[in-house]
Amino acid sequence: MDLFAFNSLLFLLSFIGSCAGEAVLPEGPVDVILGKNATIQTLLNKPTYTFIIWYFVVEGERDRVATVGDAGLNVAPAWEGRVSINKDNGFLSLASVKSEDSGDYSISIITADGSARTGDIQLRVLEPVSAVAIKSNLPEALEHNSTVVLTCSAKGSFLKFTWINGTTPILADGKKITVKDEELSSQLTIAGVLRSDLVGPIYCLAANKLETEKSAPFNLTVYYGPDEVTITPAKPPQFLQAGTNFSLSCASHSSPPATFTWHYGQKAIENPGAVLTLKTIEKLGLGKKAEDYTCRANNAKTGRTISSPVVSFAVLDPILGAKVTGPTGTLIAGNSTANLSCEATSGTVKTRTWTKDGQPLTASSRIVFSSDMSSVMINPLQKEDNGEFMCVLSNPVNQNKALHKMVVNYGPDSVQVDGEKAVEVNELVTIMCAAPSIPAANITWKFNGTLTSVTTAKYVIEKAVYKNSGTYTCEAQNPLTMKTMKATHTLSVKEEGALDEGLSDGAIAGIVIAILVALCAAIALIMYCRQKVPVESPY
Ligand SMILES: *[C@@H]1O[C@H](CO)[C@@H](O)[C@H](O)[C@H]1NC(C)=O
Ligand SMILES: *[C@@H]1O[C@H](CO)[C@@H](O)[C@H](O)[C@H]1NC(C)=O
Ligand SMILES: *[C@@H]1O[C@H](CO)[C@@H](O)[C@H](O)[C@H]1NC(C)=O
Ligand SMILES: *[C@@H]1O[C@H](CO)[C@@H](O)[C@H](O)[C@H]1NC(C)=O
Ligand SMILES: *[C@@H]1O[C@H](CO)[C@@H](O)[C@H](O)[C@H]1NC(C)=O
Ligand SMILES: *[C@@H]1O[C@H](CO)[C@@H](O)[C@H](O)[C@H]1NC(C)=O
Ligand SMILES: *[C@@H]1O[C@H](CO)[C@@H](O)[C@H](O)[C@H]1NC(C)=O
Repeated sequence: MDLFAFNSLLFLLSFIGSCAGEAVLPEGPVDVILGKNATIQTLLNKPTYTFIIWYFVVEGERDRVATVGDAGLNVAPAWEGRVSINKDNGFLSLASVKSEDSGDYSISIITADGSARTGDIQLRVLEPVSAVAIKSNLPEALEHNSTVVLTCSAKGSFLKFTWINGTTPILADGKKITVKDEELSSQLTIAGVLRSDLVGPIYCLAANKLETEKSAPFNLTVYYGPDEVTITPAKPPQFLQAGTNFSLSCASHSSPPATFTWHYGQKAIENPGAVLTLKTIEKLGLGKKAEDYTCRANNAKTGRTISSPVVSFAVLDPILGAKVTGPTGTLIAGNSTANLSCEATSGTVKTRTWTKDGQPLTASSRIVFSSDMSSVMINPLQKEDNGEFMCVLSNPVNQNKALHKMVVNYGPDSVQVDGEKAVEVNELVTIMCAAPSIPAANITWKFNGTLTSVTTAKYVIEKAVYKNSGTYTCEAQNPLTMKTMKATHTLSVKEEGALDEGLSDGAIAGIVIAILVALCAAIALIMYCRQKVPVESPY
């Protein structure tokens, strides 16, 4: 029997066998990486057989690979050195598989009675997964505007692709994100890409049943912004003091960083940068009146420009060098007029107020303010006008004060003499003369009409004698106005004991002792009663 006939016979037998018995081979396919050893396992358990024959099926024709039987292993020349069959279980081993080894393999187990069992299985030689790489359709993207198409390509067989953002798989939603797989590549399309979409980083996994390869991390710059633009401080004071350390700052999230421009009303301010200082505002001569300031952020890549909210303020010069101008000559109560005026050397004065000795100065028939409160006329001056006048100039950014001391000469309007009217001989006598006046009055004393040498307000007699009795006249003269006033006082000096009245010292001491004794007795009695007579409870 020639080989062909033998093969045909076995083939026929194998059909009968396969129809008759349980499966000989498991479900395929068997996968193996190119170059590795492959073993095609059977489901046989200690089979009894005459021959086990393995075939490689090419275009429906079976091509014997190897046979094992009592005579041992016989390998077809084409497979010499690479193939063996385990005689206990029929496993076929192939060393370092080649691509051409892919295909269908079939086994026949032939027993002594000529019956045969057969099975078929597919062997897939997989090319190793390699060269997994991501490419983008764009070198850079604009948030919301760009549709990013990432292509992951790889080498290998029977590849499946997966996209990963960081550690989480990217799932297609069919709208914003779509994935299209092909044999050796996968396309991830992200429409209207967001800044957060690609920071992953993004990886692509290419896998067959046996291996998985990961691409290098991929990131793509997504330009965005400017987002909302903030200006700080958002609510500056309505007025700023000129020359102070103040600035506006502008900020916005943007990639690449935004460039900022400033506007005063609708006019652009020449000030590059995110900070606009008061110094710049002043240097450009702006800010004299209240005006709106805004900042605009521009992103060169996205082309978007966003405006900040408006802030508004005016710049005011501080008030400096306040000064009160007042009368310079000598002022006389009832006869002089004073004009006080208050001015500053610089600054914008918004309000003026006046105080005298710390109290608000109020208008009256004598005191008249100019309509702008810059001056006050006092006519006529009175002694009450002596004191410190203060003018307070203020605006919303500062306050400046100036003082003026007013001296109004007056008096004396009255003279008052005080002292003992009657004394005993040898007693001390003090007579006081009071005569309010500016400048202080010159005092002279007369006794019984005769000028004395005393020129002080206090007239002192160390030890009175009888002839000190008489009339004492105090004369006070204002040295400036020469106005003179006088007052008299009568003193009478009496003999010793003439002025005694009431009890002697000894009598007074006796009375005091008696009262103290009585008081002690009363207290003792109260203590005694409390101890001996308990107070009855009212309950
Ligand atoms: C593959 O098979 C060959 C020949 O049977 C053997 O020499 C080699 O050690 C095997 N390699 C592996 C990795 O099992
Ligand atoms: C982005 O899209 C908007 C609206 O679709 C469009 O007005 C704008 O010009 C686009 N920006 C760029 C830079 O293409
Ligand atoms: C991607 O990110 C890595 C690390 O964050 C960085 O080194 C690399 O330059 C980035 N590549 C691109 C294209 O932005
Ligand atoms: C202005 O103020 C800022 C912040 O308050 C401070 O950092 C800066 O040193 C100040 N500059 C001057 C000149 O005072
Ligand atoms: C007041 O002024 C008048 C006229 O100027 C003068 O005659 C008079 O003496 C003055 N009175 C005093 C108290 O100075
Ligand atoms: C005070 O001011 C008023 C009004 O300006 C003026 O009429 C008057 O002459 C001034 N008097 C003095 C003493 O300066
Ligand atoms: C002063 O006058 C009084 C009363 O007129 C008289 O009693 C007295 O003696 C006089 N004294 C002297 C020292 O002249």
